[in-house]
Amino acid sequence: MKTIIEPFRIKSVEPIYFTTLEERKRILENARYNPFRIHADQVLIDLLTDSGTSAMSARQWAGIMMGDESYAGSTSFFHFESSVKDVTGMPIVIPTHQGRAAEKILFTILGGKGKYFLSNTLFDTTRANIEFSGAEGIDLLCEEGKHPSIPAPFKGNMDIEALGQKINELGAANIPMVIMTVTNNSGGGQPVSMQNIREASAVCKAQGIPFFIDACRFAENSYFIKRREPGYAGKTVPHIALEMFSYADGCTMSAKKDAFANIGGFLAMRNLDLALQCRNLLIITEGFTTYGGLAGRDLEAIAIGLKEVMDEHYLEYRIRSIEYLTGKLYDAGVPVMLPAGGHAVYLDAKEFLPHIPVDQYPGQSLVCALYEAGGIRGVEIGSLMFGKYAADGSLLPAALELVRLAIPRRVYTQSHIDYVAEVIIEVFSQREQYRGLVITEETPLLRHFTAALKPA
Ligand code: F0G
Repeated sequence: MKTIIEPFRIKSVEPIYFTTLEERKRILENARYNPFRIHADQVLIDLLTDSGTSAMSARQWAGIMMGDESYAGSTSFFHFESSVKDVTGMPIVIPTHQGRAAEKILFTILGGKGKYFLSNTLFDTTRANIEFSGAEGIDLLCEEGKHPSIPAPFKGNMDIEALGQKINELGAANIPMVIMTVTNNSGGGQPVSMQNIREASAVCKAQGIPFFIDACRFAENSYFIKRREPGYAGKTVPHIALEMFSYADGCTMSAKKDAFANIGGFLAMRNLDLALQCRNLLIITEGFTTYGGLAGRDLEAIAIGLKEVMDEHYLEYRIRSIEYLTGKLYDAGVPVMLPAGGHAVYLDAKEFLPHIPVDQYPGQSLVCALYEAGGIRGVEIGSLMFGKYAADGSLLPAALELVRLAIPRRVYTQSHIDYVAEVIIEVFSQREQYRGLVITEETPLLRHFTAALKPA
């Protein structure tokens, strides 16, 4: 087989910024060992997130110039609406400024004390919006999904048996919605199978519970189904996506992922009563129903990106580039999550830096090591992000200490990815030299964004 190449030419470029090892040591110290505090022009390869960081196509930029900025009834809205309807088959489309705005609206209406939302795995902002409403979020990830180093084709699946049991235990009347996150971001960007979506939907239908999809990475998930699920190899990605959405009563979407947009999102659904309530809240918080917190030009960019992302040459390259990096690291003995997910490579920091105890944040230490060694910025997904304190002040650690390297869409080339692999392998070969970190300042909520640390 020949090399799978980037399926685009580069017409416009922006510089990346080189620093010396000495400079990076100083920058890290000034940033108090928290790369969220580092200025982006001090980062060489930025793998903090795949959200809002995509390179837009020439066609999207042309769409930006065509944006109709009318307050009501802009042509860009109707272009956006028809694109979302084509992709999802949902009859009602509500624009929002990003994914979490769609979540906030939905859970403000459906949430509240005594309510439970069940999911394969809720993303942080989804869970936070559910909990902020007073309700509780419950993850029902399949068994395979809980073992980082054991490969399986659909590690994002929901445990269907557990879903049935939880509904019986809590009562269908107390469950306003079941949410399937595709792909499962918090679980490593692992896909969900069509069969699992179909079965979860059937359980919900039988119990009268609305079934929604968190569709941020719907195209990557559809491509995994095509590649891995029997019966789908001959189907097109748009066809697979439509089938996925056909089992759902609605979806939330962050267009900052699988729509190649720098900002934007939406809610789509079939139920008019719920849509009326959502639109009321939209007008108070986001904006009128035909722009929902977005400029007309953003609506254009999303309308075009939603279609572009389903191109199979693009998806083949996209999934392959994550596999490629994961494979290089695996071959060098670096502990990585397997198999490769759709949008990011996850390093297992507990195994990478076994000499650093969890209360000295091995994930954060690895994030800092990657920045120091090669100017690469990733993010800790471990006890700095999810740790809590016991009554005696000791750390209650997260289940896993991971580092996520999220790959922006269409931004970096294969040589950038080769460089990233080289830096990680170099850090791995010198892993004994890295020390843990202790927190010197933190906020009570979402501390990882702003915490200050120092070497232990
Ligand atoms: N759902 C999932 C699965 C996500 O990954 C995200 C964002 C959201 C919802 C919220 O969307 O950012 O547009 O408000 N994930 C980003 C990330 C932030 O880095 O994984 P948003």
